[in-house]
Amino acid sequence: MKFFIDTANLDQIKEAQDLGVLDGVTTNPSLMAKEGITGDDNVIKHYKAICGIVDNNVSAEVISTTYEEMIKEGEALAKIDSKIVVKIPMIKDGVKAIKYLSSKGIRTNCTLIFSPGQALLAAKAGASYVSPFLGRLDDISTDGLQLIEDIRLIFDNYQYETEILAASIRGPLHIVNCAKLGADVITAPLSAITALLKHPLTDSGLAQFLADHDKAAKAAK
Ligand code: E4P
Repeated sequence: MKFFIDTANLDQIKEAQDLGVLDGVTTNPSLMAKEGITGDDNVIKHYKAICGIVDNNVSAEVISTTYEEMIKEGEALAKIDSKIVVKIPMIKDGVKAIKYLSSKGIRTNCTLIFSPGQALLAAKAGASYVSPFLGRLDDISTDGLQLIEDIRLIFDNYQYETEILAASIRGPLHIVNCAKLGADVITAPLSAITALLKHPLTDSGLAQFLADHDKAAKAAK
């Protein structure tokens, strides 16, 4: 399973990259705004900086919502760096734009997926990734993990190459459950990724190992 970090924060991206397990980054307009990145030049500069940190797979989302504008914006984003994946919302013009961009060899990530039917349409259009939003479904008392399971079944039935990129991850259990269900990728905040490291028995076990080593070393002197 691939690990992406869901942020536009350069320090957090560097920290995840340093851990050695990072396969990519997803951003969205809200995450870019959170970092104070506005204006075409700054946006391009920021995507270049992210591409300078990671090896591949940097999702950059279009702001436009019409077919013609999304194509134009998508082509411009793809020109920034070969690591860019153009993120397109699941709307009618978005599906058309995914079809066009994928026919030109530009990788796409269809975002804001909340139903199996939306994922199926995006895969038919040739999306490289679909991003089902788990946490936002859980937030409205709907089973987000069931959506991952349904999309996995559909994609396997027809051998779609589109990868399932589980998004809107809230914590480590979401990541583990997505892995159990066969999601190809998770994108998560740094806190959810590093939470996977933690177990109290690891901490107490390590403390005991080190104490026993010290005791034996002192006794040998
Ligand atoms: C996906 O690519 C989105 O950026 C993201 O996962 C949305 O998550 P949120 O629901 O925490 O905003």
